[in-house]
Amino acid sequence: MLDVASLKVRYGAIEAVRGLDLSVGKGEIVALLGANGAGKSSTLAAISGLAHWSGEIVFDGQSLQGHSPEAITRAGIGLVPEGRRIFAGLTVSENLLLGGAVHAPPVELRRRAARMQERFPILAERRHQKAGLMSGGEQQMLAIARALMAEPRLLLMDEPSLGLAPQVVEAVFDLIASLRDEGITILLVEQNVPMSLDIADHALVLAQGQISVRGTTKEVAESQAVQGAYLGH
Ligand SMILES: Nc1ncnc2c1ncn2[C@@H]1O[C@H](COP(=O)(O)OP(=O)(O)OP(=O)(O)O)[C@@H](O)[C@H]1O
Ligand SMILES: [Mg+2]
Repeated sequence: MLDVASLKVRYGAIEAVRGLDLSVGKGEIVALLGANGAGKSSTLAAISGLAHWSGEIVFDGQSLQGHSPEAITRAGIGLVPEGRRIFAGLTVSENLLLGGAVHAPPVELRRRAARMQERFPILAERRHQKAGLMSGGEQQMLAIARALMAEPRLLLMDEPSLGLAPQVVEAVFDLIASLRDEGITILLVEQNVPMSLDIADHALVLAQGQISVRGTTKEVAESQAVQGAYLGH
Protein backbone atom coordinates (compact mmCIF):
# COMPACT_ATOMS: atom_id res chain seq x y z
CA MET A 1 0.00 0.00 0.00
CA LEU A 2 2.83 2.39 0.91
CA ASP A 3 6.30 2.20 -0.60
CA VAL A 4 8.98 4.61 0.47
CA ALA A 5 12.41 4.49 -1.21
CA SER A 6 15.59 6.52 -0.72
CA LEU A 7 13.67 9.05 1.36
CA LYS A 8 15.62 12.09 2.48
CA VAL A 9 14.39 14.94 4.66
CA ARG A 10 16.65 17.83 5.48
CA TYR A 11 16.18 21.01 7.51
CA GLY A 12 18.91 23.37 6.33
CA ALA A 13 22.17 21.70 7.29
CA ILE A 14 20.46 18.96 9.32
CA GLU A 15 19.85 15.68 7.50
CA ALA A 16 17.01 14.18 9.53
CA VAL A 17 16.27 11.25 7.17
CA ARG A 18 19.12 9.90 5.07
CA GLY A 19 17.92 7.40 2.49
CA LEU A 20 15.13 5.43 4.11
CA ASP A 21 13.28 2.52 2.50
CA LEU A 22 10.11 1.09 3.96
CA SER A 23 6.96 -0.66 2.81
CA VAL A 24 3.64 -1.11 4.51
CA GLY A 25 1.31 -3.79 3.15
CA LYS A 26 -2.46 -3.44 3.20
CA GLY A 27 -3.90 -4.47 6.56
CA GLU A 28 -0.56 -4.50 8.34
CA ILE A 29 0.74 -2.70 11.38
CA VAL A 30 4.35 -1.67 10.84
CA ALA A 31 6.24 -0.34 13.86
CA LEU A 32 8.86 2.36 13.28
CA LEU A 33 11.10 2.47 16.33
CA GLY A 34 14.18 4.45 17.26
CA ALA A 35 15.75 6.84 19.72
CA ASN A 36 14.94 10.53 20.11
CA GLY A 37 16.00 12.49 17.07
CA ALA A 38 16.33 9.40 14.86
CA GLY A 39 14.04 10.89 12.20
CA LYS A 40 10.74 9.11 12.93
CA SER A 41 8.52 12.20 12.98
CA SER A 42 10.31 13.61 9.95
CA THR A 43 9.49 10.43 8.05
CA LEU A 44 5.79 10.77 8.93
CA ALA A 45 5.89 14.48 8.10
CA ALA A 46 7.24 13.66 4.63
CA ILE A 47 4.55 11.04 3.97
CA SER A 48 1.89 13.54 5.13
CA GLY A 49 3.19 16.30 2.87
CA LEU A 50 4.25 18.42 5.85
CA ALA A 51 8.01 18.37 5.17
CA HIS A 52 10.07 18.83 2.01
CA TRP A 53 11.59 15.54 0.92
CA SER A 54 13.35 13.78 -1.93
CA GLY A 55 13.22 10.16 -2.99
CA GLU A 56 10.04 8.20 -3.65
CA ILE A 57 6.81 7.90 -1.73
CA VAL A 58 4.19 5.82 -3.52
CA PHE A 59 0.73 5.27 -2.06
CA ASP A 60 -1.62 2.84 -3.81
CA GLY A 61 0.55 3.04 -6.91
CA GLN A 62 0.55 6.85 -7.03
CA SER A 63 3.55 9.08 -6.32
CA LEU A 64 2.97 11.65 -3.57
CA GLN A 65 5.69 13.97 -4.84
CA GLY A 66 4.36 17.54 -4.95
CA HIS A 67 1.04 16.68 -3.28
CA SER A 68 -0.34 19.08 -0.67
CA PRO A 69 -1.20 17.82 2.83
CA GLU A 70 -4.90 18.22 1.92
CA ALA A 71 -4.51 16.11 -1.23
CA ILE A 72 -2.72 13.44 0.80
CA THR A 73 -5.53 13.40 3.37
CA ARG A 74 -8.05 13.04 0.56
CA ALA A 75 -6.01 10.23 -0.96
CA GLY A 76 -6.56 8.29 2.27
CA ILE A 77 -3.61 8.95 4.57
CA GLY A 78 -4.32 10.22 8.10
CA LEU A 79 -1.87 11.49 10.71
CA VAL A 80 -2.16 11.36 14.49
CA PRO A 81 0.61 13.86 15.25
CA GLU A 82 3.22 13.67 17.98
CA GLY A 83 2.03 15.48 21.10
CA ARG A 84 -1.60 15.12 19.92
CA ARG A 85 -1.82 18.74 18.65
CA ILE A 86 -5.49 19.09 19.46
CA PHE A 87 -6.93 22.59 19.27
CA ALA A 88 -7.10 23.27 23.01
CA GLY A 89 -9.29 26.37 22.75
CA LEU A 90 -11.91 24.72 20.53
CA THR A 91 -14.57 22.33 21.74
CA VAL A 92 -14.29 18.59 21.34
CA SER A 93 -16.94 18.68 18.58
CA GLU A 94 -15.14 21.44 16.72
CA ASN A 95 -11.92 19.42 16.85
CA LEU A 96 -13.71 16.43 15.36
CA LEU A 97 -15.34 18.45 12.57
CA LEU A 98 -12.00 19.98 11.61
CA GLY A 99 -10.54 16.48 11.19
CA GLY A 100 -12.73 15.75 8.21
CA ALA A 101 -13.11 19.27 6.90
CA VAL A 102 -11.10 18.87 3.70
CA HIS A 103 -12.80 15.62 2.96
CA ALA A 104 -16.56 15.70 3.27
CA PRO A 105 -19.59 18.02 3.19
CA PRO A 106 -21.07 19.31 6.51
CA VAL A 107 -23.95 16.82 6.72
CA GLU A 108 -21.58 13.90 6.27
CA LEU A 109 -19.13 15.43 8.77
CA ARG A 110 -21.84 15.64 11.43
CA ARG A 111 -22.75 12.01 10.76
CA ARG A 112 -19.13 10.95 11.18
CA ALA A 113 -18.72 13.06 14.34
CA ALA A 114 -21.80 11.35 15.80
CA ARG A 115 -20.26 7.95 15.04
CA MET A 116 -17.02 8.98 16.74
CA GLN A 117 -18.97 10.05 19.81
CA GLU A 118 -20.67 6.66 19.90
CA ARG A 119 -17.35 4.95 19.67
CA PHE A 120 -15.67 7.18 22.27
CA PRO A 121 -18.32 8.00 24.91
CA ILE A 122 -15.98 10.44 26.65
CA LEU A 123 -16.02 12.59 23.50
CA ALA A 124 -19.83 12.68 23.58
CA GLU A 125 -19.83 13.61 27.25
CA ARG A 126 -17.35 16.44 26.66
CA ARG A 127 -18.49 17.56 23.22
CA HIS A 128 -19.28 21.15 24.25
CA GLN A 129 -16.19 21.51 26.45
CA LYS A 130 -12.89 23.00 25.40
CA ALA A 131 -10.65 20.14 24.31
CA GLY A 132 -7.71 21.50 26.33
CA LEU A 133 -9.52 20.70 29.57
CA MET A 134 -9.44 16.96 28.96
CA SER A 135 -6.82 14.59 30.38
CA GLY A 136 -3.88 13.45 28.27
CA GLY A 137 -5.51 10.10 27.54
CA GLU A 138 -8.79 11.73 26.56
CA GLN A 139 -6.94 14.17 24.31
CA GLN A 140 -5.15 11.24 22.66
CA MET A 141 -8.50 9.57 21.94
CA LEU A 142 -9.68 12.87 20.45
CA ALA A 143 -6.55 13.14 18.29
CA ILE A 144 -7.16 9.63 16.96
CA ALA A 145 -10.89 10.24 16.43
CA ARG A 146 -10.08 13.50 14.64
CA ALA A 147 -7.78 11.64 12.23
CA LEU A 148 -10.46 8.97 11.68
CA MET A 149 -12.95 11.67 10.63
CA ALA A 150 -11.31 11.72 7.19
CA GLU A 151 -11.76 7.92 6.96
CA PRO A 152 -8.11 7.14 6.23
CA ARG A 153 -7.06 3.81 4.75
CA LEU A 154 -3.54 4.34 6.07
CA LEU A 155 -3.09 5.86 9.51
CA LEU A 156 0.28 7.29 10.57
CA MET A 157 0.48 7.40 14.37
CA ASP A 158 3.30 9.33 16.06
CA GLU A 159 3.92 8.12 19.62
CA PRO A 160 0.26 7.78 20.59
CA SER A 161 1.10 6.30 24.02
CA LEU A 162 3.65 8.92 25.07
CA GLY A 163 3.17 10.30 28.58
CA LEU A 164 0.06 8.26 29.37
CA ALA A 165 -0.61 6.12 32.45
CA PRO A 166 -0.15 2.35 31.94
CA GLN A 167 -3.87 1.63 31.85
CA VAL A 168 -4.44 4.31 29.24
CA VAL A 169 -1.48 3.00 27.22
CA GLU A 170 -3.24 -0.38 27.12
CA ALA A 171 -6.44 1.28 25.92
CA VAL A 172 -4.53 3.04 23.13
CA PHE A 173 -2.90 -0.21 21.98
CA ASP A 174 -6.28 -2.02 22.15
CA LEU A 175 -7.70 0.71 19.95
CA ILE A 176 -4.83 0.36 17.45
CA ALA A 177 -5.52 -3.38 17.24
CA SER A 178 -9.22 -2.81 16.62
CA LEU A 179 -8.51 -0.24 13.91
CA ARG A 180 -6.32 -2.83 12.17
CA ASP A 181 -9.10 -5.40 12.54
CA GLU A 182 -11.46 -2.94 10.85
CA GLY A 183 -9.13 -2.82 7.86
CA ILE A 184 -7.08 0.30 8.52
CA THR A 185 -3.38 -0.07 7.72
CA ILE A 186 -1.10 1.46 10.33
CA LEU A 187 2.42 2.87 10.43
CA LEU A 188 3.10 3.20 14.14
CA VAL A 189 5.93 5.29 15.58
CA GLU A 190 6.44 4.35 19.21
CA GLN A 191 8.86 4.41 22.11
CA ASN A 192 6.98 1.62 23.86
CA VAL A 193 9.00 -1.09 22.12
CA PRO A 194 7.60 -4.22 23.84
CA MET A 195 3.96 -3.31 23.19
CA SER A 196 4.70 -2.21 19.63
CA LEU A 197 6.50 -5.46 18.83
CA ASP A 198 3.59 -7.32 20.35
CA ILE A 199 1.00 -5.70 18.11
CA ALA A 200 2.88 -5.14 14.82
CA ASP A 201 3.53 -7.45 11.88
CA HIS A 202 6.85 -5.90 10.87
CA ALA A 203 9.21 -3.51 12.57
CA LEU A 204 12.00 -1.15 11.61
CA VAL A 205 14.53 0.54 13.82
CA LEU A 206 15.65 3.96 12.68
CA ALA A 207 19.02 5.31 13.81
CA GLN A 208 20.36 8.68 12.64
CA GLY A 209 18.04 8.85 9.68
CA GLN A 210 18.66 5.33 8.38
CA ILE A 211 17.14 1.93 9.04
CA SER A 212 19.48 -0.10 11.25
CA VAL A 213 17.32 -3.20 11.76
CA ARG A 214 14.26 -4.47 9.93
CA GLY A 215 12.22 -7.65 9.79
CA THR A 216 9.28 -9.43 11.32
CA THR A 217 8.58 -8.34 14.87
CA LYS A 218 10.11 -11.61 16.08
CA GLU A 219 13.33 -10.98 14.15
CA VAL A 220 13.54 -7.39 15.36
CA ALA A 221 12.78 -8.37 18.96
CA GLU A 222 15.63 -10.89 18.83
CA SER A 223 18.09 -8.50 17.20
CA GLN A 224 20.99 -7.36 19.34
CA ALA A 225 20.28 -3.69 18.76
CA VAL A 226 16.78 -3.97 20.16
CA GLN A 227 17.68 -6.37 22.96
CA GLY A 228 20.43 -4.07 24.19
CA ALA A 229 18.95 -0.65 23.61
CA TYR A 230 15.23 -1.06 24.10
CA LEU A 231 14.32 -4.24 25.90
CA GLY A 232 16.92 -3.87 28.62
CA HIS A 233 18.64 -7.26 28.25
N1 LIG B 1 11.57 21.68 11.88
C1 LIG B 1 12.83 21.31 12.13
N2 LIG B 1 13.87 22.15 11.92
C2 LIG B 1 15.13 21.78 12.16
N3 LIG B 1 15.50 20.57 12.60
C3 LIG B 1 14.52 19.69 12.84
C4 LIG B 1 13.13 20.00 12.63
N4 LIG B 1 12.39 18.92 12.95
C5 LIG B 1 13.27 17.97 13.35
N5 LIG B 1 14.54 18.42 13.27
C6 LIG B 1 15.76 17.65 13.57
O1 LIG B 1 15.75 16.49 12.75
C7 LIG B 1 16.21 15.35 13.47
C8 LIG B 1 15.13 14.28 13.48
O2 LIG B 1 14.01 14.75 14.22
P1 LIG B 1 12.64 13.96 14.32
O3 LIG B 1 11.68 14.85 15.03
O4 LIG B 1 12.26 13.45 13.00
O5 LIG B 1 13.07 12.73 15.24
P2 LIG B 1 12.18 11.68 16.04
O6 LIG B 1 12.77 10.34 15.75
O7 LIG B 1 10.75 11.89 15.77
O8 LIG B 1 12.52 12.06 17.56
P3 LIG B 1 11.59 11.99 18.88
O9 LIG B 1 11.61 10.58 19.33
O10 LIG B 1 12.32 12.88 19.85
O11 LIG B 1 10.23 12.49 18.55
C9 LIG B 1 16.59 15.86 14.85
O12 LIG B 1 17.96 16.11 14.85
C10 LIG B 1 15.79 17.14 14.99
O13 LIG B 1 16.42 18.03 15.85
MG1 LIG C 1 9.18 12.41 16.92
